[in-house]
Amino acid sequence: MDTQDQSATTPMVECFKISKVYPPDVVALNDVSLTAAPGELIFITGSSGAGKSTLIRMIGRQEKPDSGLVMINGREGARLSSAQQQRMRRDIGVVYQDFRLLPQLSVARNIAIAMEVDYCGRWETKQRIKELLAQLELTGKERRPVENLSRGEQQRVAIARAAANHPSLLLADEPTGNLDEKTGHLILNLFRELAATGTTVITATHDSKLYRGHGHRVLHLKQGELQTDGEEEQ
Ligand SMILES: Nc1ncnc2c1ncn2[C@@H]1O[C@H](COP(=O)(O)OP(=O)(O)O)[C@@H](O)[C@H]1O
Ligand SMILES: [Mg+2]
Repeated sequence: MDTQDQSATTPMVECFKISKVYPPDVVALNDVSLTAAPGELIFITGSSGAGKSTLIRMIGRQEKPDSGLVMINGREGARLSSAQQQRMRRDIGVVYQDFRLLPQLSVARNIAIAMEVDYCGRWETKQRIKELLAQLELTGKERRPVENLSRGEQQRVAIARAAANHPSLLLADEPTGNLDEKTGHLILNLFRELAATGTTVITATHDSKLYRGHGHRVLHLKQGELQTDGEEEQ
């Protein structure tokens, strides 16, 4: 049932022993289990090829694991109707590594599209866009076609779009890949703010400068295996 009572202690994300092998025999993930509570901010690290993006895709349900189970807010996707799955997907904001923006549309339009699916009123939409652009130092770029922006600016638009609806879960794959350290900090601040209002934020990154020294939970993947869970790197 979609209206079932979800207690405050239901984890937002639960992965039970998920594995993924790509042909012919690339073990991208091997028996990975993790739990993320509502409002938790988690970083998934590891060198290139460790399985970070694969894990993000499994949690976001863009792909299915070969074995194991992914539960979002206590529900397993395969058991939901397509309408329920659609609703669930709308409550997950994703920052793709390749942005997936609509290049000819304006910055504001790209963000508004994500919001209008969620039936936000025009005024509310405008206010939220303004707030996000200010936060990500993109004020004044509302009307610019996305294709005319730098990679770093496009990346921030993709982040604003994913965060616009205050999703229950935000997944970000290398969200600072095109940003300098100072701008990376804006992203971290936005993610912290979302987490403080209940969004579970899971970020795959090889950029240790992004999270180091903040006491956040850091999970380390090595060749598809989770090395640590729950440790805070200082
Ligand atoms: N669609 C795919 N087809 C084949 N191999 C893949 C695919 N996606 C990822 N891989 C492989 O799985 C492993 C993990 O990849 P990935 O999750 O992208 O790692 P990371 O994001 O940590 O760099 C790598 O060896 C990669 O080459
Ligand atoms: Mg990756």
